[in-house]
Amino acid sequence: MKLNILGKEDRVDTSILLTIRKSKEHGGTGTYPWRGGLILADQICHWAGEYTNRKEIDENKYFSMLFGNNKTVIELGAGSSGLPSLLLGKIKSSTDILEDIQLICSDGVDEIVQGLSINVSDNELDECITVKHIDWNYYINCNEQRDTDMMVDTIIFADCIYNEECAVVLNKTIQSLLKVGGCVVGVLPDFRVGVDVFERLMKERYTPIEIPIVNEKADGFVCNGGRGKDYRLVVWKDKKT
Ligand SMILES: C[S@@+](CC[C@H](N)C(=O)[O-])C[C@H]1O[C@@H](n2cnc3c(N)ncnc32)[C@H](O)[C@@H]1O
Repeated sequence: MKLNILGKEDRVDTSILLTIRKSKEHGGTGTYPWRGGLILADQICHWAGEYTNRKEIDENKYFSMLFGNNKTVIELGAGSSGLPSLLLGKIKSSTDILEDIQLICSDGVDEIVQGLSINVSDNELDECITVKHIDWNYYINCNEQRDTDMMVDTIIFADCIYNEECAVVLNKTIQSLLKVGGCVVGVLPDFRVGVDVFERLMKERYTPIEIPIVNEKADGFVCNGGRGKDYRLVVWKDKKT
């Protein structure tokens, strides 16, 4: 797939080409790419374009806030495609922005983690992206105690909620892994059970900001999930800064 992304002016003028294979091993929903991942990748392209077109970098803009200044970023429930992480990896490896970002891409199903590693390698991103097995169920009993080895500045996820149980464990994992003052960006499928529970839990600790989704879809890329208008994209900022 080709994502047409970056700035039209002087700093970068590039399209990013990603090769995505569906997982050969299967392993549930993460076997295929989902629309949520494509929406998030598209949005990151849009923000990257905005960022590269600016003469002065505005630290309050989403691209800087989420990915700039040596941030450690983790994708949860990336599936075997991990589109948003692969895209960030390509921006890091092929442009002069995001040079210092640390990228971790994760899923909780072994077969999917294997498929994800293959996609990372096929796109020559082994140097840029660390692939990890992270099962959110591990964090369900973490009472405020944090996994300090794994704490990150930014968490990204797409299409990861299917039921209330999922909503609770994903929220717990975010609370355990996100540094104080960190940010989360997620794509929520409004047609799925559990999204309301997730948003209610997130609101207790983080301030949500709804972002209008851009319409620059990658042509001809086939993915599972609903139509674009059935999704919302939300950034959450930690209330403690
Ligand atoms: C619908 S898929 C979305 C995959 C990808 N984000 C995308 O947009 O293509 C949901 C993903 O969440 C992962 N997942 C579900 N429950 C999980 C859990 N408890 N821990 C870690 N990953 C989980 C699944 O393995 C699957 O890859």
